[in-house]
Amino acid sequence: MSAVMTTPDPGQVYEFTAEVPQGQVIRYDLAALCSALNINDPTRIAVETDGLRRAMITVYPSNPLAQVRAVTREDLVMDRHGRIVIGVYHNGRPVKKRLFDPSTGSAQRHLVFGTTGAGKSRVVHLELAAEKINGFVSWLADLKFGQSVPEAEEHVDWPVRTQEGAVLMTMAAVAVAQDRMRRYAAAGRSAFVLGVDPLLNVTLDEANRALERGAPYRDLMTHLIKELGRTGRSVGVGVRLSAQAAHLEELGGSDTLRAMLKEGEVTLLRWSGSMMRQLVADGLLPAGEQLMPIPKTLAPRELRSQFDPAADDDDDAPGTQGMGYLLSGPRPTAMMRHLRVGSIAPLAGKDPEILALYGPGEPARLEELSAEADGENIGLIAYHLRHDPVAFQALCDQFREIYQQKPGHGGGGQHAGGAVDDGPEESADRPRKVLVEDRVRAVLAAADAPMSADEVLAAVNSDGGKQVSGGTVRNKLSALVDSGAAVQPGRGLYAPVR
Ligand SMILES: Nc1ncnc2c1ncn2[C@@H]1O[C@H](COP(=O)(O)OP(=O)(O)O)[C@@H](O)[C@H]1O
Ligand SMILES: [Mg+2]
Repeated sequence: MSAVMTTPDPGQVYEFTAEVPQGQVIRYDLAALCSALNINDPTRIAVETDGLRRAMITVYPSNPLAQVRAVTREDLVMDRHGRIVIGVYHNGRPVKKRLFDPSTGSAQRHLVFGTTGAGKSRVVHLELAAEKINGFVSWLADLKFGQSVPEAEEHVDWPVRTQEGAVLMTMAAVAVAQDRMRRYAAAGRSAFVLGVDPLLNVTLDEANRALERGAPYRDLMTHLIKELGRTGRSVGVGVRLSAQAAHLEELGGSDTLRAMLKEGEVTLLRWSGSMMRQLVADGLLPAGEQLMPIPKTLAPRELRSQFDPAADDDDDAPGTQGMGYLLSGPRPTAMMRHLRVGSIAPLAGKDPEILALYGPGEPARLEELSAEADGENIGLIAYHLRHDPVAFQALCDQFREIYQQKPGHGGGGQHAGGAVDDGPEESADRPRKVLVEDRVRAVLAAADAPMSADEVLAAVNSDGGKQVSGGTVRNKLSALVDSGAAVQPGRGLYAPVR
């Protein structure tokens, strides 16, 4: 590999380009690079590759994102491409995120991942404030009992704090999307046009609480979110999930989020566990690309004597909250930081700076729905009761009872909009039938070389069982890769883990 310094800037920033010979793909080892450059704070280095032969290495005198300015209401006004400014990249350029795509009329799906304290809820504030400023109808489930984003409550059209509330809210959103589809079809309109109906966005903060194993309405929520992702986009109904998860499997099974990940706006804040490997496996990060891990604080890593009395002072180091990567942006591997939202130090009550960001006035409200949608959907009934806490709670209680009485707690129940996918969990207490997943596994296990998805499909369809589609087989293959039961030894090839 050869390296050339292109913009020497003594004492300040150094920029290098590196390239490998034609026919090779550039790979790098961050730790080795830091070692070669004699740098003990890896967050001072930024590496970006073109995915082929070239890399650009930027070395800063100190982490360029240690301080960022506060967000302003002007940052949050959508430009003509539907984008707002949410942060800065390490090189000082603005990070723009799409809230709406005017060219296709598409509502967006947002995913924000990060471990506890990484800054997910502040991202939610920033984006909910942007929604209010831009006239969106915002629905918000704060699944930490309203503790995560308390300032948002009066600035959204519908806040809920409970699992039941979140389910009813998501049902209502699906019903709104279906109602819009019907109305638009009747009007001969094929795309969502801003200004007729408002954009509606459902945000689930701590979505993992609704989607993880053991969550009370996991199957139903998984189904509803899939449904919303599928039907909402073209009718102005979007969804935002903020979650801590080490693995997509924890979020309702990997299929749920796969499509959202592929087409959504994905932000990765400080992460833990195997999230990165997962994102590579899902094709979100090209293989070979690396993201500089985000440390918890910017304390330099220095070896100090075990007996050095100053060794306990690390608590004072600046934190890294809000630092992350906008994976769906044009520069997925460039470290960025969200603009400051409110006080970094904890406050006893609601944060006045965050309240000011939302600004005065009422948030936008939902359009009038057609009578047929409104009358029968329990989610929409809940919507109309949202300002009456007693009646709303009674409805939630009633919903919980009905749900608990259903066999299998609603797995395969009558949800809005169709049947639930047959997952392995759901068949646990029924006579076990042969699942497509098992058939795919059997085919892989019997092969003596890695197989393409088409080869697996052909083999599955000739095993004497029910015929299945290519899409199903591909989903199952991805799920096997996700769960670690299979690997992809080459592009489009699958092999079992023996
Ligand atoms: N963009 C930000 N601006 C200012 N402070 C932030 C920002 N992001 C995070 N923080 C600080 O970090 C803390 C944790 O952030 P939070 O959004 O609650 O994390 P999470 O929801 O991921 O657990 C906040 O209370 C705040 O002190
Ligand atoms: Mg939070």
